Amino acid sequence: MAKKRIAVFISGRGSNFMFIHGEIEKGNIHGEIVVLISDNPDAGGLAYAGEKGIECRVFPWQVPRDRYFQDLMDFLEGKDIDLIVLAGFMRVLSANIIERYANRILNIHPALLPSFPGEEAQRQAFDHGVKFSGCTVHFVDGGVDTGPIIQQRVVPVLEDDDTETLAARILEQEHQLFPEVVRAFCNNQLEVVGRRVHVRE
Ligand code: GRF
Repeated sequence: MAKKRIAVFISGRGSNFMFIHGEIEKGNIHGEIVVLISDNPDAGGLAYAGEKGIECRVFPWQVPRDRYFQDLMDFLEGKDIDLIVLAGFMRVLSANIIERYANRILNIHPALLPSFPGEEAQRQAFDHGVKFSGCTVHFVDGGVDTGPIIQQRVVPVLEDDDTETLAARILEQEHQLFPEVVRAFCNNQLEVVGRRVHVRE
């Protein structure tokens, strides 16, 4: 089985990208990050990718968005990408890219979906007063954080938590969960049946 060719999209810090790459380096994921794409020239992950010899492409955000994503798609076509990993990419993808890569785009969200979609999910959950939050990896569909859920990790909200401490403990779980799901994808273990995603042994 050929290694999956992965494009990772980021907008900022890039810690999830680094953890996924770390597992690839250890030989735990049957895939290769072919390119790192950022809409932000100052994204933290770019320097790391440079050090690791991963091709980086900055696509500075531009409107109209259809044109932006068409350019991005044309670029991806040339790279023969099997999987797109959204690791803190802060843009909603266009319909044509979602259709082209149906069930081949993963996103991580720092809450237990379908609760608290969208931005500042950790703050939304904390302010709502939940006792448990966590993170979700899901396939991307046309909505905001609405696609079929692949896997989740639960994180309890502690008595002396604030949004930042909760977010930090959720992030630790993200760093474990996202590489696990990428690994399962690369092993062809994920099967989507309607809204349910089965993880085959
Ligand atoms: C993470 O909290 C992720 O859940 C959300 O964006 C953040 C990205 O963090 N989608 P990083 O750039 O991977 O450090």
